[in-house]
Amino acid sequence: MVTSTNTMFLRISTLFSLIAYTQCASNYTFSPDFMFGTATSSYQIEGAWNESGKGENIWDYITHNSPDYVYDRTNGDIACDSYHKYEEDIALLKDLGVDFYRFSVSWNRIFPNGYPHNPNQEGITYYSNLIDALIAQNITPMLNIYHWDLPQRLQELGGWTNSYMVTLFTEYARILLDNYSDRIDYWITFNEPLSICSQGYGADGFAPALSMSGRADYLCAHNLLKSHAAVYHLFNNTYRARNNALMGIVLNSAWYEPSRPEEQEASERALQFLLGWFANPIFSTTGDYPQVMKEYIGNRSAIQGFSRSRLPQFTSDEIEYIRGTSDFFGINHYSTALVEYSPATDNVVSNNNDMEIVMFRNSSWPIDAAGRDPIVPWGIRKLLAWIKNTYNSPSIHITENGCPDNGGLDDDVRVSYYGSYLEAVLEAINEDNVDVRSYVAWSLMDNFEWRFGYTYRYGIHFVNFTDPDRPRTAKRSATFYKNVISSRVVGDYPPLS
Ligand SMILES: *[C@@H]1O[C@H](CO)[C@@H](O)[C@H](O)[C@H]1NC(C)=O
Ligand SMILES: *[C@@H]1O[C@H](CO)[C@@H](O)[C@H](O)[C@H]1NC(C)=O
Ligand SMILES: *[C@@H]1O[C@H](CO)[C@@H](O)[C@H](O)[C@H]1NC(C)=O
Ligand SMILES: *[C@@H]1O[C@H](CO)[C@@H](O)[C@H](O)[C@H]1NC(C)=O
Ligand SMILES: *[C@@H]1O[C@H](CO)[C@@H](O)[C@H](O)[C@H]1NC(C)=O
Ligand SMILES: *[C@@H]1O[C@H](CO)[C@@H](O)[C@H](O)[C@H]1NC(C)=O
Ligand SMILES: *[C@@H]1O[C@H](CO)[C@@H](O)[C@H](O)[C@H]1NC(C)=O
Repeated sequence: MVTSTNTMFLRISTLFSLIAYTQCASNYTFSPDFMFGTATSSYQIEGAWNESGKGENIWDYITHNSPDYVYDRTNGDIACDSYHKYEEDIALLKDLGVDFYRFSVSWNRIFPNGYPHNPNQEGITYYSNLIDALIAQNITPMLNIYHWDLPQRLQELGGWTNSYMVTLFTEYARILLDNYSDRIDYWITFNEPLSICSQGYGADGFAPALSMSGRADYLCAHNLLKSHAAVYHLFNNTYRARNNALMGIVLNSAWYEPSRPEEQEASERALQFLLGWFANPIFSTTGDYPQVMKEYIGNRSAIQGFSRSRLPQFTSDEIEYIRGTSDFFGINHYSTALVEYSPATDNVVSNNNDMEIVMFRNSSWPIDAAGRDPIVPWGIRKLLAWIKNTYNSPSIHITENGCPDNGGLDDDVRVSYYGSYLEAVLEAINEDNVDVRSYVAWSLMDNFEWRFGYTYRYGIHFVNFTDPDRPRTAKRSATFYKNVISSRVVGDYPPLS
């Protein structure tokens, strides 16, 4: 992905607070039934890593055993302490006026060592209480079954490269469905399979940091798609009726803009390799991996002397089993990259080499206040239109959108980000007829940003991580978002550059 720092932009961004807000808003409005939310995930906020019977997950393991893995040498042992402070979090949600809250369950709180054996009642009760407390405040819970914190014992079996994960994940999901499906309206199986497989298995960006690109990432995706489908069918056949609920998957994608008009094919191939990899098997009419992946990886594998493609094959039964297993298209989106064709090197085994793409950024684009990613609001509009056109107009939930900074309450760059991206979403709905049902600001509060520890803050609430009480304070962006939710219009925001 695109990451580099640009200190000049940091200095420019501090000037934003001196510039008067300008009238940037169009006249489109969000309909009364459009849903707004915020999101978090278990390892990023809960802390209490060894309390109430919880076992060790892959992030506990990597941060404790390789403390240098996280750049600021921190971990999620305490994080926002939300395990103890969830009622305070709900008060923040209530104050924002959100329609729903997307949170994830820690597998190790339910089954301490990952195996479907001896469920931990304290873990089951924790999420039950959280769900009840949300509903009591009229906030719809959106329950995400898996947000990257795999039990370490299952990683020792190979994690998502082991096909037995289909059974293990199904048994874990079953206990959540058993206990919570009377109260949950929206279920999510996986958050960001691309990150799980590409960063965790293909690279070292996330735990378990296997760095076996072009092999382990493809195996991971294969088992993950089957696991998703198995849980969807269990839900669809046995639990859906209990609450007339919906279940879907959350994919993630940047927008991949061609660097020149002649690079249109490269842009399409990047989208197929990085989003279609998971979306095509589930959302296309034919099912299966995208044709371009099968062809490029098959050919490259043959040139490299593999007797079979490194991309595993689904049987025709499996293709049918996976196709159509999502009631909505969940999409997390942050930024845009320029792409163009880059010829493969024959002997390199990697997803990137298979794809034959190089990515870079346009130095004219404004950048977020942490210098991580460009701010390109038209990118979300193009991505939403691409999803609509490629997958026959599914209902879309924007399950994450946001940008980082390094601290402070006067987060005008984030206000501009949200203002301009929400404008682009309104244009997608009104001018491109994309069926967008909801929008989620990532995140409710600053939290443990994986390998970047606590240096990248994505919250609309500030969390003081040096205070043992972990107090939360609303940033300017929280006020801005609250106003969007109540007024259904995007208010004024500072210009981007
Ligand atoms: C919004 O509506 C006002 C008044 O009808 C109009 O003057 C303005 O040009 C509109 N803005 C946009 C961006 O369309
Ligand atoms: C839990 O971990 C903390 C360190 O984060 C340690 O101080 C404490 O002793 C551990 N508690 C148990 C019950 O193992
Ligand atoms: C929760 O799940 C456990 C394990 O499957 C089961 O024993 C228990 O009855 C469930 N509770 C409810 C309320 O369904
Ligand atoms: C980079 O961005 C500038 C400003 O938006 C634009 O004029 C230029 O065409 C862009 N270049 C590329 C390669 O996209
Ligand atoms: C893949 O191989 C087939 C059969 O040799 C060939 O027709 C096709 O053009 C190749 N595709 C690419 C992208 O190299
Ligand atoms: C879900 O269940 C319904 C009703 O039984 C069935 O018609 C539908 O085909 C199922 N969906 C999938 C993707 O299997
Ligand atoms: C965070 O908390 C510490 C300890 O209470 C305090 O000294 C510090 O001023 C706080 N920082 C901010 C930015 O509020």
